[in-house]
Amino acid sequence: MEADSYVDVPKDLLKEIERLEQLFTIDTAKLKQITDHFVNELEKGLSVEGGSIPMNPTWVMSFPTGYEMGTYLALDMGGTNLRVCQITLTDQKSEFDIIQSKYRMPEELKTGEADELWEYIADCLMQFIETHHGDTAKLGTLPLGFTFSYPATQNYIDEGVLQRWTKGFDIAGVEGHNVVPMFEEALTRRGVPIKLTALINDTTGTLIASAYTDTKMKIGCIFGTGCNAAYMENCGSIPKLAHLNLPPDTPMAINCEWGAFDNEHKVLPRTPYDEVIDRDSPRPGQQAFEKMIAGLYLGEIFRLVMVDLHDKQGTHIFDGQDISALRKAYSLDSSFLSAIEDDPFENLSETAELFQNRLGIHPSSSELELIRRTAELIGTRAARLSACGVSAISKKKGFTSCHVGADGSVFNKYPHFKSRGAKALREILDWPEKTNPKEEDPIEILAAEDGSGVGAALIAALTLERVKAGNM
Ligand code: GLC
Repeated sequence: MEADSYVDVPKDLLKEIERLEQLFTIDTAKLKQITDHFVNELEKGLSVEGGSIPMNPTWVMSFPTGYEMGTYLALDMGGTNLRVCQITLTDQKSEFDIIQSKYRMPEELKTGEADELWEYIADCLMQFIETHHGDTAKLGTLPLGFTFSYPATQNYIDEGVLQRWTKGFDIAGVEGHNVVPMFEEALTRRGVPIKLTALINDTTGTLIASAYTDTKMKIGCIFGTGCNAAYMENCGSIPKLAHLNLPPDTPMAINCEWGAFDNEHKVLPRTPYDEVIDRDSPRPGQQAFEKMIAGLYLGEIFRLVMVDLHDKQGTHIFDGQDISALRKAYSLDSSFLSAIEDDPFENLSETAELFQNRLGIHPSSSELELIRRTAELIGTRAARLSACGVSAISKKKGFTSCHVGADGSVFNKYPHFKSRGAKALREILDWPEKTNPKEEDPIEILAAEDGSGVGAALIAALTLERVKAGNM
C-alpha cells in the first residue's frame, strides 16, 4: 500500500512513510542505470587491472552432461549452517541419491579463532562418517567437494586464498591465506580420512547443479545470508587469464562476487540506514550491494529504521514504551521481516503479536501500518536490486532467453521476492507485458538444484575427469 492510501494514520507517521518510500523506492530508470554500470563493472573485474567486483575464475571448465557417475562427499560451509552430504550420481541421466547431516554453525565461531573453526568442521565430518559409515577406510577414498562460500583466489581448483571474509565472519589469520592446508591439517589432527578434490563457491555449485537437470540454466545465484552469482565465461574474454594461453573458447565458470558491486558508491541509492550497517560491520567499505539485499542484513535495516523513528524528535512511534529489546543489533533476522510481510490479516494482528512476543512492544494500528510498509519497502528494494545483477550478466553475455537457477533463504522463503524480482527484470529488459500470465518470461529465475551438495559432487566428478584426461 502506498502512503496516500492510508486513511486513519496520523500526519506525522504518514510523513515518515512517505520519506521511507522516497528513500527505498528504486524506479525503472534507476534500475537501468544501475544495470548499465553493473555491466561495465563485470568487464572491469575480468580485466588485468581489476575492479571492485572480483570476478574469480573457478577452474570449473565445463557443464555436466547428466551422465556423470560415482559417489562423492560434499561439505558446505555457508553463512549459517554446516552441512555434510554423501551424493551418489547414478547411472540414470541427471539422477542422484543423497544422504546428509546438518550442523548449526555456532555464532561465536564466526568471529573466533581460525583453529576452532577448522576443528569444528573436522569434528562434523568425523561425526558424519561415524553416523553413516562403519568403514572409514572406504570413505576416505571418496572425493570431497568443499563449498567454501567466500571470495577466494584460485590458481587451481583445489586451493583457495581467502580474499576477505564476508557475511559477518571475522576470523583472524585466514584472509590472504590458502584455506585448503588449514582445513587438511585439522582433518589430519582429528584423523579424518578425507581428501579434498575441489574447493567451490555456492554460486558455481548452483550453476552446475542446475545445468545438470536443465540445459537452459546459464546463471547460478544465491539470495540467502549473502548474495552472489556465477556464470560461464569464455577464456578469450578473461584478459586477466590471457598469460595462461588457454584456448579462447575454453569455458570457465566465473564466481562474480557481485556483493562487492559499487563499493565505491557511484550508483546505488544508499540510505542513512545502509550507511550505519556498513559502518558497524566487521568490514566497512566492503559488499555494498550485498548489504542492501542479503538475508543477513534485511532485518537489521528494518530494526535501524524502527529505532530511528522512535528516537527522532517529532515522530511518536512506540512512544513511552521500553524499546531496549529492539536496540540490540542483529536481533531481527530476515524471517522476522518475512513474517510481517506474510501477515494475512487486515488488522495485522500477527505482526502485533510478533512485536509483543519478541520485543515487548505494543504497536498501535497506525504503527502497524508503518511497520508493514517498511518491511515491504525493504523487501521490494532487495528483489529489484537483485534483478540488476541478473540483467547485467544477461546483457554482458547477450542472453536473450535462458533460465537462472537461484537458491538461498531469501529466494526460497521471503514473500514476493520472486515476483518482485521478475517484475524488475521485465522493466529493465523492456519486455512487453505478458498476454497470458502462464507464459514464461524470456529470462526466468527458477529454484535451483542443490548447489553445495549435488553441485559440489558434480564439480568433483568433472575435476577428476579433467585430471584423468590430463587437462588440469
Ligand atoms: C557472499 C560470499 C560469496 C557467496 C555469497 C552467497 O557474498 O562472499 O562467496 O557466494 O555470500 O552465499
